[in-house]
Amino acid sequence: MSRVALITGGASGIGGACAKKLARQDIKVVIVDRDRDKGNAIANELKGSFIDADLSKREDCQKAVQGAIEQYGQLDILINNAGFQHIDPIADFPEETWDKMIAVMLTAPFLLTKYAWSYLIQSKCGRIVNIGSVHSLTASPFKIGYVTIKHGLVGFTKVVALEGGEHGLTCNTICPAYVRTPLVEKQIADQARTRGISPEEVEEKVLLAKTAIKKLLQPEDVANYVAFLCSGEAWAITGSVQAIDMAWTAS
Ligand SMILES: NC(=O)c1ccc[n+]([C@@H]2O[C@H](COP(=O)([O-])OP(=O)(O)OC[C@H]3O[C@@H](n4cnc5c(N)ncnc54)[C@H](O)[C@@H]3O)[C@@H](O)[C@H]2O)c1
Repeated sequence: MSRVALITGGASGIGGACAKKLARQDIKVVIVDRDRDKGNAIANELKGSFIDADLSKREDCQKAVQGAIEQYGQLDILINNAGFQHIDPIADFPEETWDKMIAVMLTAPFLLTKYAWSYLIQSKCGRIVNIGSVHSLTASPFKIGYVTIKHGLVGFTKVVALEGGEHGLTCNTICPAYVRTPLVEKQIADQARTRGISPEEVEEKVLLAKTAIKKLLQPEDVANYVAFLCSGEAWAITGSVQAIDMAWTAS
């Protein structure tokens, strides 16, 4: 039987690219997202399955793992990817947005890992890959929720790696710089509006200001690395934080 991967936020951007890459490697993909139309479309295209879930809710996290097990009877790979961004100074940062961000981007990875734990261990070569960010390693103003959570994933990764090691379960976090996805296209449009500059200037002067290579990543750049970490070849890479940041954090 093929391995089975649960991918949160798999209906769009990086999660969608991960689903496609893993499906091409004969891995069964379970896409978990709150976007029913896009989630179903990708799942159908990849002959996988879709679970409609709002990951800010504990019962939906449970439903996601149960759904994968009911469908395939096993779960070998968990990709914690779903997320969103909110930009505001601390004094204006909405408290309910803070709560929601923590729920989707930090509590859901914990709950999914907890609920999937026994299956990932049964797999003997279980894999958890968390999609962190360059903001797991550095900070920017006005991103208090995002930066706090993405740093939190690093600690999460290390504990999971320590507890999973004896079972062959690895856990890593990938930290990309800006990736051209709907999340970033929205940021480019917003910043162009608020700064009164063109979208091209936002890319060059804001998003790529700190990178040594002046080019946005594509979702596939991240998906390729995810697929490697999910492979048998990556058995020894665990508890690690892997930057794909065009040397942003090198200086
Ligand atoms: N795009 C970037 O530049 C970039 C860089 C570094 C890290 N990341 C991280 O990559 C991950 C994916 O980002 P993306 O750029 O592909 O974004 P995206 O907006 O294209 O996709 C995010 C997906 O998550 C889903 N999602 C959001 N909240 C959800 C919820 N409550 N329940 C279920 N699904 C939910 C959305 O429906 C969407 O399909 C995020 O964790 C993001 O922080 C993105």
